[in-house]
Amino acid sequence: MLIAPSLLAADFLHLSDEVEMVNTSAADWLHLDVMDGTFVPNISFGFPVLEAVARVCRKPLDVHLMIDRPERYIRQVADLGTYMMTVHYEATTHLHRTIYEIHEAGMRCGVALNPSTPVGHLVDVVRDVDMVLVMTVNPGFGGQPFIEHSLDKVREARALIQASGSKALVEVDGGVTLTTAPGLIEAGVDVLVTGSTVFRAADPAAMIQQLKGFAPC
Ligand code: DX5
Ligand code: ZN
Repeated sequence: MLIAPSLLAADFLHLSDEVEMVNTSAADWLHLDVMDGTFVPNISFGFPVLEAVARVCRKPLDVHLMIDRPERYIRQVADLGTYMMTVHYEATTHLHRTIYEIHEAGMRCGVALNPSTPVGHLVDVVRDVDMVLVMTVNPGFGGQPFIEHSLDKVREARALIQASGSKALVEVDGGVTLTTAPGLIEAGVDVLVTGSTVFRAADPAAMIQQLKGFAPC
C-alpha cells in the first residue's frame, strides 16, 4: 500500500516545512493537484510553485492534472522530474496519443476517472497505462465526503486490470480517512491519496504511518 499525501491541504505559508515533513515521513509519493478553473471549478497552483516544491521534495512526484487538454504541458511536467503524470479521461480527446507522449517524455502515466465516468471506458487503454485513478469525490476541492459508490468502481478497475493482463496500479483520491481507508484497501486499492486527513492531523507523520499500517507492503 502506497500513501501519497496531497499538498493541496498543506499550509501554503510554510510549504518547505510541509514538504520536509513528507520527505522524512513514511509517505511513498507526494501528490500535487493542478487545477485550471475550467476543467474543475477551482484553481490551485501552477509551475512556479511546482518547481519550488520539486527542488526540495525527495519523494517521487505524483502530479494530478485537473486541467483541460493536459497534453499541452507534458514537457513542463516532465521537467519537474515527475514520476507519475495523471490526466483525466474527460479532459483529453486523444487519450491514446497523450499516454504515448507522456511515456515518450520519460514518465509513468495515470488516467483519472471522474465519479460519473464508467471504468469500462478504459478498456482500450488499460494495458498502456501505469495507473488508474478512481476519483472518490468530484475533483476540485479537498475535504469533501467520500462517494460510497466508488468502492464498486475500485473493484471494477481491479477486475479490468486483471482481466486485461495490465500491470496498472489503482489509486483513489478524495475523502480518504481512517474510516474509509480499510474498505478501499479491501476493494483492491494500491495507492491512497490523502489531503486533509494527513495535513490537518495533529501529527501528520504519525497519521501517514497509521494509514500505511492498514496494509503494510
Ligand atoms: C481533489 C484533489 C485531491 C484532494 C484530496 O480534487 O484531487 O487530491 O487534495 O483531498 P482530501 O483528501 O481532503 O479529500
Ligand atoms: Zn488529486
